[in-house]
Amino acid sequence: MATLTKNDIKITRTETSKISSIDFNNLAFGQVFSDHMLTCDYKDGKWHKPEVVPYGPITLDPSSKIFHYGQSIFEGMKAYKDNNGDRFLFRPMDNVKRLNLSAKRLAIPELPEDYFMEGLKALLDVDQDWIPTNEGSSLYIRPYVFATGNGFHASPADAYKFIIATAPSGAYFSGKVNVLIEEQYSRSANGGVGFAKAGGNYAGQFYPTQLAKDKGYQQVIWTDDTTHEYIEEAGAMNVFVRINDTLLTSPVSDRILDGITRKSILQLAEAEGIKTEVRKVKVSELVEASKNGSLKEMFGAGTAAVISPISGFGFRGDDFEIPEQDQSFASQLKNRIVAIQTNKAEDPFGWRVKL
Ligand code: COI
Repeated sequence: MATLTKNDIKITRTETSKISSIDFNNLAFGQVFSDHMLTCDYKDGKWHKPEVVPYGPITLDPSSKIFHYGQSIFEGMKAYKDNNGDRFLFRPMDNVKRLNLSAKRLAIPELPEDYFMEGLKALLDVDQDWIPTNEGSSLYIRPYVFATGNGFHASPADAYKFIIATAPSGAYFSGKVNVLIEEQYSRSANGGVGFAKAGGNYAGQFYPTQLAKDKGYQQVIWTDDTTHEYIEEAGAMNVFVRINDTLLTSPVSDRILDGITRKSILQLAEAEGIKTEVRKVKVSELVEASKNGSLKEMFGAGTAAVISPISGFGFRGDDFEIPEQDQSFASQLKNRIVAIQTNKAEDPFGWRVKL
């Protein structure tokens, strides 16, 4: 099949740009959207060429299967701009491949990789002025696919839409992140869809997370659904724990998202001489380490969250505070990864992709 390049993509520009109404110095996360979006339709058994169009509402049939059976997957990525105005992505092919892994699990037809990548490049050419340059800001990119094909039969749809929408964004969390270790509800199960970025994985967390918020926590740390003895991930991010000078994180599985930030941190930490262990971490080990002072840090890692320090955790009615470190692994690794992402440091790993 002939490959598509960004120049093959039809572009329809908006007549009224919103950009002058955006305060780039006060960006929340994912609240304002750039002028254009990429759209691409699957029908008659194939994906049709993507197009860049003005960002705006779409019309769907009320019996589209997305509404009934939740066939919907997404990705999260970011674009960065350096002081010269050069634009960069971070490990974008990992997102393309993960979207297709999610697609396969949700019985959604896989998207040609060049439709995704070349479509994204065309979109970011058109909306390049929307990539913020302020420290801590970036253009959050949300690629997603959902079932547009209709019918009440509980079976995969015959039509889908792929959209990439983007949002100039600041930090995902404002303030401290205090987490609750959850033992009653589960995010995922063996053989399930926990590893996929399926919309429903997130919807299923909202109720338990709201209960945790009502008690003063910002996020839930999910434990394994069988024994609830081991910590897994935090839903919007993977979780790292520092016990003495070793950085620990759970192995990815059917139940845990293979986070791109997670795997980058593991590589970076090793390159920085930090000892890492990918192994299951028991909640009791965490509690014990907190009590004896060997629990030095906990942090979440994800595209949106970057590296977000966790200030404490709640478990069975007790709260365990994690004292701030002067020289934390979290800040060391965050500085390194952000410097690589924003072209302020060498990238020995080949992660940064210039647009
Ligand atoms: C991301 O980190 O990009 C995600 O997709 C997580 C989402 C809950 C914001």
